[in-house]
Amino acid sequence: MIGSLITLDRHGAVALVTLASHNPLNPLTSELMTELGKVLQTLDADTDTRAIVLTGSARAFAAGADIQAMAQMTYARAVRENYLAAEWQTVSTLRKPLVAAVRGYALGGGCELAMLCDIVVAGENALFGQPEIKLGLVPGAGGTQRLPRAVGKSLAMEMNLTGEPITAAQAQAYGLVSRVVADEEVTSVALALAQSMARHSLPVLLAVKAATARAFETTLAEGLTYERSAFHGSFALDDQREGCEAFLERRDPRFTHQ
Ligand code: CAA
Repeated sequence: MIGSLITLDRHGAVALVTLASHNPLNPLTSELMTELGKVLQTLDADTDTRAIVLTGSARAFAAGADIQAMAQMTYARAVRENYLAAEWQTVSTLRKPLVAAVRGYALGGGCELAMLCDIVVAGENALFGQPEIKLGLVPGAGGTQRLPRAVGKSLAMEMNLTGEPITAAQAQAYGLVSRVVADEEVTSVALALAQSMARHSLPVLLAVKAATARAFETTLAEGLTYERSAFHGSFALDDQREGCEAFLERRDPRFTHQ
């Protein structure tokens, strides 16, 4: 399936979603984010999809929100339309594993979009930054909240207050990305990671993602209570029985996603 700003390729139970704006820097226009939200929602509901890879062009994962549109934006309109809220909310509420495959620039909203993904794989020449301050703006899609949780206070403050980007190697050292690979291997490594998730039971993938995400959203005590309940809930699944039996019989599990 091909949209006008997004392409979608199937790799078995993994979907590869590519931001393919006519500008290879992939400015995150409202049109692009709306189309992305629709594609991701469809994939989240699709029973044959178990993991999603999100990527951009060789030049940029995305160079941020649309500066053309923001140059005309007013406070009243931003509040009235809840600017940058709805389309971005869709990405943050996806239930299936989402892997970002980042080449080139991931700036502003591009860095924030990568941080909305569960795992970030970066090419060695990728750059991550929150340059909003240079535009007279406060980051608007998680830069002041998810970035400190990902890289710690000092580096997040440095990035947000100077607007200067960090390299893929720095991003890995601080935990913003889990893997740095050659630029030309980013998509294949991200797809292989997603394939290794897609082998598992879908309801368990959803539960593990939800429980792990909880670690960033609640207290340790509440997170552990949530995890215990999800763990106990796994015993209601056919796939739990199959997984344990397959281990004991020294064979691969045949998950039915039930
Ligand atoms: N929005 C709209 N257009 C953009 C854009 C953006 N975010 N980024 C680049 N462009 C456009 C440029 O205006 C230019 O258009 P024209 O050819 O029509 O002049 C074209 O893309 C190519 O850009 P450059 O000539 O600047 O390319 P470069 O290779 O010299 O530099 C770059 C690349 C370093 C990424 C540079 O384009 C840049 O700094 N872009 C802006 C990055 C930025 O500030 N992002 C944050 C946006 S604010 C935000 O995201 C808010 C939020 O929190 C959600």
